[in-house]
Amino acid sequence: MFKINENYLKLPGSYLFSTIAKKVNAYQEANPEKDLIRLGIGDVTQPLAPSIIEALHGAVDEMAAAETFHGYAPDLGYEFLRNAIVDGDYRSRGAQIEADEIFVSDGAKCDSGNIQEIFAQDNKIAVCDPVYPVYVDTNVMAGRTGTYDPKSETWSDVIYMPCTAENNFAPEFPKEVPDIIYLCFPNNPTGSTITKDQLQGWVDYANKNGAVIIYDAAYEAYISEDDVAHTIYECEGARTCAIELKSFSKNAGFTGVRLGYAVVPKDLTCGDVKLHDLWARRHGTKYNGAPYIVQKAGAAVYSEAGKAQLKEQVGYYMNNARVIYEGLKDAGYTVSGGVNAPYIWLKTPDGMSSWDFFDHLLEHANVVGTPGSGFGPSGEGYFRLTAFGNYENTVKAIERIKNI
Ligand code: MLT
Repeated sequence: MFKINENYLKLPGSYLFSTIAKKVNAYQEANPEKDLIRLGIGDVTQPLAPSIIEALHGAVDEMAAAETFHGYAPDLGYEFLRNAIVDGDYRSRGAQIEADEIFVSDGAKCDSGNIQEIFAQDNKIAVCDPVYPVYVDTNVMAGRTGTYDPKSETWSDVIYMPCTAENNFAPEFPKEVPDIIYLCFPNNPTGSTITKDQLQGWVDYANKNGAVIIYDAAYEAYISEDDVAHTIYECEGARTCAIELKSFSKNAGFTGVRLGYAVVPKDLTCGDVKLHDLWARRHGTKYNGAPYIVQKAGAAVYSEAGKAQLKEQVGYYMNNARVIYEGLKDAGYTVSGGVNAPYIWLKTPDGMSSWDFFDHLLEHANVVGTPGSGFGPSGEGYFRLTAFGNYENTVKAIERIKNI
């Protein structure tokens, strides 16, 4: 008789955003007349920029002729895209990354879930608390997290780094030294950032302790302040301790198109083994590449027209962030985030739990958000709203919240 991977049975409940979707669908079914505004999952609402649409159309036409048709993509991704990434995201920032250190994928969620596969099972992971749930859940599936304590909602073998108002939502070096450190800046869910100097501190810490940093920079396009690094490779020594994950979802609206990439520098080694070689082996074996059409669309992100159009799109969402931030502040809420990130993190009023506030907002304002406790125990008593809605709905949602 076959056996299942019992680690899956340890996972409490379903994936956070699936739970929310189920709850919201049930509410909408019971109240079909209600006009819900969804500011929960960080899904974009604006259409793809014209230069991306143009690139998609062009690539579709290429697929229609035998001379320009494309089958399987190269393992690491097409060179035209990897070169554009290197120039646009690294060289322009003085960071030394080569095209053959870029692994194109179908998104940062898959990469952030899959990357743990190249590490031994007895590595100890450290995560910010609250945190994007994929990092912990995928390590649970791999059997790396020990036992779950439902009371504290923590795993015995995970090092939690609380990010709370007291430390300005910035993780502190943990007492116990981890092997793998997950960092995400600008942060999901708190919308906070750390300065480049603080990030340099983490790079130095990782190099000193022989740890590896998995750096999720999915929200990099939203950075507006000068002292925040756009890539971890702006920090000295990051090539020997950091893997960076990037997404095209948030900067270019690819949530439904799917494209991302991982950077694994060749200087990142364990003994004489290059992590680059392990990830290349994994990528080649388990993945057949993002579609040619989509990679062409990805390259258009780096064209002059694409850059200008996407700057405007990011500006559109950041204007929503300002509307949410200022509106909630006026209404007496304690709010943070929303300056370098499309997420606003607010303290629930009157000591309400995160899920109680979720129900409260759903019922009385018909607004959907994300309960902070879904991201980890230190998220309890907090709530996340996304700036990825459209402007009209965002304004309406804040009016409704103010009028509860
Ligand atoms: C979120 O809402 O946290 C994100 O949309 C999830 C994701 O990007 O996978």
